[in-house]
Amino acid sequence: MDLSFLDQAKKMFEKKVLSRGVESVLGIDIGSSAIKLVQLKSSQGTATLETYGEISLGPYAEKEVGQATNLPPEKLAEALKTLITEANVTTDVCGVSVPFASSLVKLIEVPPLDLKKLQTVVPIEARKYIPVPISEVQLDYFIIPETEQKLFLGAKNINDAEGQELKNRMVLIVAMHNDILRRYTETIKVAGLNAEFFEIEVFSNIRSTVAHSLAPVAIIDLGATTSKLYLVELGIVLASHVIPVGSQDITKSLAKSTHMTMAKAEEIKRQAGILSGVENGDAARVSHAATLTMEQIFAEARRVLLGFQRKYNKVITKVILTGGGATLKGLPEFARQQLELEIEVANPFLHVQAPSFLQDTLEQAGPDFAVSVGLALRVLHDSR
Ligand SMILES: Nc1ncnc2c1ncn2[C@@H]1O[C@H](COP(=O)(O)OP(=O)(O)OP(=O)(O)O)[C@@H](O)[C@H]1O
Ligand SMILES: [Mg+2]
Repeated sequence: MDLSFLDQAKKMFEKKVLSRGVESVLGIDIGSSAIKLVQLKSSQGTATLETYGEISLGPYAEKEVGQATNLPPEKLAEALKTLITEANVTTDVCGVSVPFASSLVKLIEVPPLDLKKLQTVVPIEARKYIPVPISEVQLDYFIIPETEQKLFLGAKNINDAEGQELKNRMVLIVAMHNDILRRYTETIKVAGLNAEFFEIEVFSNIRSTVAHSLAPVAIIDLGATTSKLYLVELGIVLASHVIPVGSQDITKSLAKSTHMTMAKAEEIKRQAGILSGVENGDAARVSHAATLTMEQIFAEARRVLLGFQRKYNKVITKVILTGGGATLKGLPEFARQQLELEIEVANPFLHVQAPSFLQDTLEQAGPDFAVSVGLALRVLHDSR
């Protein structure tokens, strides 16, 4: 099994085309509230959608749809098997994501040594950033190529970059906790699948949403329990942050303030959205609960964005929304008001061939599948 989580980042610098094989592959995103899966096939150099689907984990934990869970491998495998059957999956080859909240992704700076010396220094240096014993994690790192670092630091083009000296080297360090790895390995095995790799979800997310963008952008992944903010330029994760507030908090506060069941609250949340424009009734209550939750998330996102822009003297102009929470009606407009930046809702299926009658459905479901599409794309790339 390939445990090199940085493969993705490394590949950002290679111009790869898709495999010409015909094998079908799966991307599996095990979130706290749902498992999402996408099956792609490579045909004539492009990725083609074969099937996709999602299953809520709440009911497997005696909770409601949309609620976060912390299930043991057997239960996760049971849900995954059901999803595989329901979606008519026809392959066992897969890539699996690992939650960002149980990982560490950090850009650090080390002295500008030659490559050989860096390979000795970086693992030692990286340990300083790992808050648990090193034996409990899988550690990997990626030394940012000199040219990319110079472009990032402000060189206008490659010629300009050649004349510069670097005062230090930027290295992306990545660690994943063994516990989560064990839990997911067991889940995949019990479900009868074969994992080609485990990858921290941020890299899968980038691959399907901004892989082609050179300008600095922010991605906000609105999950059930947490929201994740990633700042990305030239395919490199420059900074990231977990906000401990998620879309289930809307449902929770709605259920609490109106004394309705969680199931009902989840249902009307999905129907009404955030900008209802009405002052009374359920829609107004949803709008109120959603506003309180989303204001918290965007306030923290704005603070982190400003800090980053100040530190690197950069301007982030675009924010991409992903995750199930990003499908909340009216959210793009609300985010625009809060962040005063260009807002785009992720459409990871954009670069995937699919029947035209599915286009609208895929566009709407898109944000939810950003991670699973990104994973499946990597399996296709790798299996050339
Ligand atoms: N159509 C919809 N409208 C509004 N909210 C929705 C909709 N569909 C899903 N959600 C919300 O999205 C959340 C789930 O998002 P997602 O599937 O990205 O989370 P997850 O990956 O399981 O969680 P995490 O990333 O925190 O582990 C749930 O709280 C759910 O209520
Ligand atoms: Mg998620």
